Amino acid sequence: MRKQIAAANWKMNLTVDKAEVLLEEIVNVNITLKENQLAVFAVPFPYLQLAEQKLSTQNFYAAAQNCYSKKSGAYTGEVSAEMLQSLNIKYVVLGHSERREYFDESNQLLAEKLNIALEYNIMPIFCCGEPLSIRDAQIQNEFVAKQLQESLFHFSADDMQKIVIAYEPIWAIGTGKTASSLQAQEMHAYIRKVLADKFGKTVAGNISILYGGSVKASNAKEIFNQPDVDGGLVGGASLIASEFITIINSLK
Ligand code: PGA
Repeated sequence: MRKQIAAANWKMNLTVDKAEVLLEEIVNVNITLKENQLAVFAVPFPYLQLAEQKLSTQNFYAAAQNCYSKKSGAYTGEVSAEMLQSLNIKYVVLGHSERREYFDESNQLLAEKLNIALEYNIMPIFCCGEPLSIRDAQIQNEFVAKQLQESLFHFSADDMQKIVIAYEPIWAIGTGKTASSLQAQEMHAYIRKVLADKFGKTVAGNISILYGGSVKASNAKEIFNQPDVDGGLVGGASLIASEFITIINSLK
């Protein structure tokens, strides 16, 4: 059975004091997750150790929001997969649309980042998704398929199952405009088909595909209940304890 995941993406928000309070507010509720359910917190690098310690509860994990494509060396300001591994970090978000847009991350660079994350046994949450102009032109399937092909198609079927996908239509991120549950389901089913054609049906059936873009407490259940939606990657609403607790509790 594939994993159902509620992933928080804090982005560049919160000071350390506020981060600690937020983690405590969530952990203190004692949410009981089923065996196939996970809650993941992608926090800023300086808070990784704190988050890892606070989230010692079963099925709760700290995650990084990025890592670099090289092993080590003279890359001032970058953070390696090996460093994350040494902090016991098990997940890393790669290819978020904000990284693609503001830091020019290409599908090819992301293929390298994915390689290195897997090399250090860190499970990538690989983001894909189209901008509004592409959706308006009704070529979103082709656009997303290209992102998958260029970043993921070099993997073996075995390695592919170590990757989580997050579909995030850019027009729905931080805009309050969510894709309808039908739009999400359509794209998720399409992504699964692209993966099935390349890696086989069984492998595609084992891969978790999260939806991201204005997920909140009030819409999480309807979106997560779609057959090909396996949870969410949540920005704004993950900064409010009560919102994110409800989102975690909306996993199927
Ligand atoms: P949002 O962000 O929930 O604030 O729309 C989602 C994301 O960027 O991962």
